[in-house]
Amino acid sequence: MKLYFNPASPYVRKVRVTAHELGLDGRIELISISLTPVNPHEALRSSNPIGKIPTLITDDGAALYDSPVICEYLDSLAGGNRIFPTTGPARWTALRRQALADGIMDAAVLMRYEEAARPKELRWQNWIDGQLLKVRTVLDALEGENLDGAFDIGTISIACALGYLDLRFASESWRATRPRLATWTAAIGKRPSLAGTTPAVS
Ligand code: BEZ
Repeated sequence: MKLYFNPASPYVRKVRVTAHELGLDGRIELISISLTPVNPHEALRSSNPIGKIPTLITDDGAALYDSPVICEYLDSLAGGNRIFPTTGPARWTALRRQALADGIMDAAVLMRYEEAARPKELRWQNWIDGQLLKVRTVLDALEGENLDGAFDIGTISIACALGYLDLRFASESWRATRPRLATWTAAIGKRPSLAGTTPAVS
């Protein structure tokens, strides 16, 4: 399998953590690319018309995207019900948490593009503030959840979303008012799958 990837992408990190946890990371060749919405990657677009990472090319040559689909595919290769609970409340909790975490990633990556890609004179502060409000509101909701004991696509996604905030928005200091989430992140971050994929600032 081949994975179009960028080490800074929190969505890619979800896939890499999932692959590692399932013992599949050795079967995935990483293809490093750089892209933004204003600087698309042509080879990637020929496999994925949305032109986004992560995109996985399976051993059969099929392209799969985006991170929820790729992660569930990897889980199925490993027999299923490992990272994605297949039934019952555990499934819906994991999927709901994945949606919350992906929501943090969506808002944070949009803010990052504003800072890194949009010309200063075109920035719209109200819009940035609206994205930040989403991030903060989701963090507050997660502070109120008991995340202990679950290791699945929901908690993997949350760990990767928080890691992206640390990478790009360290000044947000999200831990200051969310002690339970901070303690949980420190503990889960010791897992080799997460420790080995921590993105470095570039
Ligand atoms: C980043 O550099 O922050 C980034 C790179 C790829 C995807 C998303 C974010």
